Amino acid sequence: MPSELTIVNPPPFPRGEDAIMTPLRPPAHPAPEPYRIRSVERIRLLPREERLRALADSGHNLFRLRARDVFIDLLTDSGTGSMSDRQWAAVMEADESYAGSESWFRFEAAVREVTGFPEVIPTHQGRAAERLLFEALLRPGDVVLSNALFDTTRANVERLGARGIDLPEPAALDPLDESPLKGGIALDALERALAAEPVRAIVLTATANSLGGHPVPLGNATAAARLAKKKGVPLFIDGARFAENAGLLARRDPSCEGMPAARIALSLFDLADGCLVSAKKNGLAHIGGFIGLRDAALAERVRQGLVVTEGFETYGGLAGRDLDAIAVGLREALDEGFLSARLDQVEAFHAALRAANVPVVCPAGGHAVYVDSGALLPHVPPSRFPGHSVACALYAEGGVRSCEVGALMFPEAEKEPHRQLTRLAIPWRTYTASHLDHVARTLGQIAAQRERLGGYTIVSAPAALRHFRAVLAPA
Ligand SMILES: Cc1ncc(COP(=O)(O)O)c(C=O)c1O
Repeated sequence: MPSELTIVNPPPFPRGEDAIMTPLRPPAHPAPEPYRIRSVERIRLLPREERLRALADSGHNLFRLRARDVFIDLLTDSGTGSMSDRQWAAVMEADESYAGSESWFRFEAAVREVTGFPEVIPTHQGRAAERLLFEALLRPGDVVLSNALFDTTRANVERLGARGIDLPEPAALDPLDESPLKGGIALDALERALAAEPVRAIVLTATANSLGGHPVPLGNATAAARLAKKKGVPLFIDGARFAENAGLLARRDPSCEGMPAARIALSLFDLADGCLVSAKKNGLAHIGGFIGLRDAALAERVRQGLVVTEGFETYGGLAGRDLDAIAVGLREALDEGFLSARLDQVEAFHAALRAANVPVVCPAGGHAVYVDSGALLPHVPPSRFPGHSVACALYAEGGVRSCEVGALMFPEAEKEPHRQLTRLAIPWRTYTASHLDHVARTLGQIAAQRERLGGYTIVSAPAALRHFRAVLAPA
């Protein structure tokens, strides 16, 4: 008798170093994850009244909560994922020599393999890479153009007296636009800005974290690189999520069909003069970052800043064990099995939220799902932070921590109702389908009672990156 069960073939288990060359195919169903869990960490859901007290004690700022009071933590995917057995094994085998350690040479080889950049500069995390590169490059009055600078990138541009200008594709500003490849830079606007502004650099953020985690397509990056070259302006990739960008292109961009994610990622880096990478995302590590460059003279200028503020050029503020964890993690992030499971999980979560009548930015991002909180709470104006209101309600009702990406994080978005988002970032290899089901059900209940949610006002906040440390109160 034929079985009634549909057997889903899991993707092949990673087979050593060559696994990253296997093409990434879109699966018909989410396949079972190509790993099992051997170490677990207890989490607990506080009673509701204790959650409300914790929220009040934090000044209604989820960054100020104690992590132990959070049940499911979707604040960020940055440094919060689970490392593999191979990464932990590499940690144990690390070389902690001050200079010229074996860990450094393994790190340098992995970064060169994955990005193609000959000059590799380690940093303790992404924003240190931003600071060092921009200090070597920018002068007051300079302009940096981007599809979408992330918060720390923009802050590091602005602290030097330069200006960051975002030129996203118009489709990326419409949460309902289902265009599969809307993370690029608007090319006509880029051409105009290159003619009109004192542009010192272009940064393509792949994926575009502040817009919805959409991928930068190769075609768009190729055209941007051509315009940049014509003007003699260097182009950099913010490659914090280079693997997810490549994985989404493998699934959605016909020009990448059949290409392995590793080759797609290399093709993107090939177009650029350098990269800035927070290894806390697609390095699958808990800390770390790097700069990759072609220009040896620029690399030398950056290394002079590095040795003064981060550390010697073969560790850059990292321990040998961190360098080794990243060396393994960069390759694992491009592995077909791990990457497919990652993108499947985010897509399934996106579908579950839609099914629960929660308005979300379409299509799903590579690392996160973004609730369109401006649409969910039309009665809360951007100046009262609807994205933050949804984030606070999600913690109060379900013990789930998320992150506003709207007018609180980006004050210039206060006039843009469609940019009031709540980001649910999913740490790699950490939560199961039932965890995300809890989040989707809680958000569905919040959406059903949306009129009960109000806005927030800022009681006190620092000038730069205010969302991290602001104290807020219900309006
Ligand atoms: C796109 C992007 N670039 C840069 C950074 C900064 O990296 P880090 O947190 O390691 O300083 C982040 C962090 O969230 C990011 O998402």
